[in-house]
Amino acid sequence: MKIIQVKDYDALSERACSFLVERINELENPVLGLATGSTPEGLYKQIIKKYNQGKVSFQQVKTFNLDEYVGIERTDPNSYYYFMKDKLFDHIDISLDNVQIPNGIAPDLRQECEEYEEAIQAAGEIDIQVLGIGANGHIGFNEPRTSFTSRTQVADLEASTIEANSRFFHSIEEVPTQAISMGIETIMESKEILLLISGENKAEALATLLTCDVTEEVPASVLKKHSNVTIIADEAACSVMNQV
Ligand code: GLP
Repeated sequence: MKIIQVKDYDALSERACSFLVERINELENPVLGLATGSTPEGLYKQIIKKYNQGKVSFQQVKTFNLDEYVGIERTDPNSYYYFMKDKLFDHIDISLDNVQIPNGIAPDLRQECEEYEEAIQAAGEIDIQVLGIGANGHIGFNEPRTSFTSRTQVADLEASTIEANSRFFHSIEEVPTQAISMGIETIMESKEILLLISGENKAEALATLLTCDVTEEVPASVLKKHSNVTIIADEAACSVMNQV
């Protein structure tokens, strides 16, 4: 794993944007894996800026999002579908036909997961997957002890994740307890992975990831087995790591 340390969140967002735009411009039909949460918001802002400057186009780009809450309508501002439209897709030239986000209100969730996997296979592999990390080491919504051989599935959220994500909801009771998430094996099949880590509250997670064995207790530790992972982390996120 290659680690790029940058000063702060703005620098992280700019660096991640250059990284992604370079790949999009190199590839003929890029397939991107995208993430939600606070961390990639700055990246998406930077991408919109580059798009407005005519430095990147999404006409040939296909995207697959990592996850979606179960039981939330796509029109709900807390759905990841709404987030992606609001933060990125509505501001660039991507066709919504080329955008895939699991449907958290599908009548048959298991079938939805299977179809999501099939859609990824049909698009060929994901060229570059953007990831954030949970304070407990989760990737996507794959919580500690999720099998490394998992594929897209309905995941139960840990109490700590519900608590962390409750900042987006009116009350903690409104936070869904389940989500559809790409599995760990699905994520690992991406050709390249870009992991973004920002802020002091992720410093412990980054230090643990770098020092622990590869274990299902720390889902992100699986990334050590991938041959092409770049971590971009800001100084605050590196604060514990730099003390070890
Ligand atoms: C959420 C998402 C993850 C995200 C993580 C960190 O639960 N499912 O994909 O990486 O939490 O989010 P944030 O960037 O807001 O800290």
